[in-house]
Amino acid sequence: MNQIDVTSNAKINLTLDVLKKREDGYHELKMIMQTVSLYDIINLRKTDSGIFLKTNLKYLPTDSRNIAYAAAQLFFTAAEISGGVDINIKKTIPVAAGLAGGSSNAAAVLTGLNTLYGKIFSEKELCLLGEKLGSDVPFCIAGGCALSTGRGEILTPLPDMPTTTFLIAKPPVRVSTAAVYGSLRADKLTDGMISAIQKHDQSGVAVRLFNVLETVTAKEHPIIKKIKQDMIELGALGSVMSGSGPTVIGLFKDKKLANDAKNVMLKRRFDTFVVHTLKRKTEI
Ligand code: C5P
Repeated sequence: MNQIDVTSNAKINLTLDVLKKREDGYHELKMIMQTVSLYDIINLRKTDSGIFLKTNLKYLPTDSRNIAYAAAQLFFTAAEISGGVDINIKKTIPVAAGLAGGSSNAAAVLTGLNTLYGKIFSEKELCLLGEKLGSDVPFCIAGGCALSTGRGEILTPLPDMPTTTFLIAKPPVRVSTAAVYGSLRADKLTDGMISAIQKHDQSGVAVRLFNVLETVTAKEHPIIKKIKQDMIELGALGSVMSGSGPTVIGLFKDKKLANDAKNVMLKRRFDTFVVHTLKRKTEI
């Protein structure tokens, strides 16, 4: 076999939870990923030496900055064979869109080269190579539906869903994965809160108050955002929606300030209570 066409499918996230920021700078994730029927086509043609890459999108790099090129480099190095490949990618998956377009291309180049060069690596070995290229590459090699943990590379297969239709709509903006993770306030994650609690650091707890459901409820009920702002203006060190809302809580260091704030809230006819935390009653 001298050449091969491989399909390189996009993925969607059914869920994505960020658990904590890790020592190595990556984020610990827990997410469910699903391969979908949107795909790029990659033609791989065996050559004697060198890697040449072209795509139908002129703005994409064609050297090792392109993850598909890097995948070919890695393949030849790891396989310790002399050989080359011409890679021709017909892109349909939107770029920088959260659909794993690049990771999927890298996965397709690894599996395609492995087929062209005589199954040098097992799928497991390909996944280990893929991991070096990007966190989502092992999933793209395996495909289907999977729970993905670690930085995204630890996969637990989930049963195939009945064929399900999704609409994918990508607005004309590009998003850099590294920039998004970079701006994520990791100190707002649960691990940071645990250490603030262990250190009896009240202000630390206050600034880490965080509820992912707030993004949903507060969008529908802007009053939630307003109450949070008011609580801060009235002296709360931190404020957050409780549970699925609409109740908002504020952490006050001073009981007097809390009572003053309560009187302001009562005037607005909110159900308002000043409370304090209680100790555990039984062993758990
Ligand atoms: O692994 P990948 O190269 O796809 O990740 C791109 C960038 O996204 C990383 O350099 C890192 O900044 C961020 N990232 C992260 N935690 C993850 C995956 C990616 O912080 N689990």
